[in-house]
Amino acid sequence: MKQKILVTREVFDETIEVLREHFEVEANQADRIYTSDELATKLQGKNGVQTQSSDRIDAQLLDKCPGLKAVCNTAVGYNNIDIEACTRHGVMVTNTPGVLTDSVADYAIGMIIATCRRMTEGEAYLRKGEWKGTFLKQMLGQDVHGATLGLFGFGRIGQAIARRARGFDMKIVYHSRNRAAPDAEAEAGAIYAGKEDLLRQADVVLLILPYTPETQHFIAARELSLMKRSAVLVNMARGGIVDDAALIDALKRKTIWAAGLDVYENEPKVNPGLLQLANVVLSPHIASASEPTRKAMAMTAARNLVAALSGKTPPNLLNPDYRTFL
Ligand code: 8YV
Repeated sequence: MKQKILVTREVFDETIEVLREHFEVEANQADRIYTSDELATKLQGKNGVQTQSSDRIDAQLLDKCPGLKAVCNTAVGYNNIDIEACTRHGVMVTNTPGVLTDSVADYAIGMIIATCRRMTEGEAYLRKGEWKGTFLKQMLGQDVHGATLGLFGFGRIGQAIARRARGFDMKIVYHSRNRAAPDAEAEAGAIYAGKEDLLRQADVVLLILPYTPETQHFIAARELSLMKRSAVLVNMARGGIVDDAALIDALKRKTIWAAGLDVYENEPKVNPGLLQLANVVLSPHIASASEPTRKAMAMTAARNLVAALSGKTPPNLLNPDYRTFL
């Protein structure tokens, strides 16, 4: 008899096909987000689940789902999953590293340019019919080439952004919990800096670090006050890393120049204060959203689920300690 799994959100037909070869699949191709009670009900009798970042997996839910053996997230970030609770419940957790690195890095470069050069503001102005001609002092921005890029986070994606930024003759400094190996620094052409030092030096401060209890409001009023008045903040990581209210205040008072955001505190809600500001570029958490990359993410999660429920170690297992609690 095939094991039973749940796919919590819409995926591609080819993802479902692969899963159906191995499992009895309940799929949510209608893509309605389940409440946590609905999720618990749907997970009754299921051995595994393919989740997305809108699904919260915590101890309360796991207590209600004793048959669950694997949670395979369709994202590289996994702040939606309480890993320790999964480990204590003997549940494997996987993510999708690698397959989205280049797409997210490409998008980050786009966001840097859009923010520094006011690309979305210019488009809105033109669409409103306000463009009356070319003026020397029109829509003046900040240069990207030659600017100092300060990266918070220097994992796969951070390093891929650094490599691209070198093509724009940017100087690259980075800060991360653990300093990278000298060869990784050399390959990316990046120099390690302390947190405050980076904030003071950078023309573009870019966030690409994991969201954990320690990085909640990693960028708040004090950090923003250390940035140059001409600097821009780009957040490609998770909303809660930035205190949005403090950011809005800094953008309004122009103590920093602009921000480019793909992620928000409490998304999909966006703080209305951000919507009113011209010096912010906003996008709806789509940095990994190229067709090939989203397909690869869904397939990676599915393959992790297949391995997890066939007694193999899934390629992207995050909590090998789960075995201690079986
Ligand atoms: C999206 C991401 O969250 O992989 C991540 O951690 O932030 C993005 O790729 C995800 O794909 C949406 O479900």
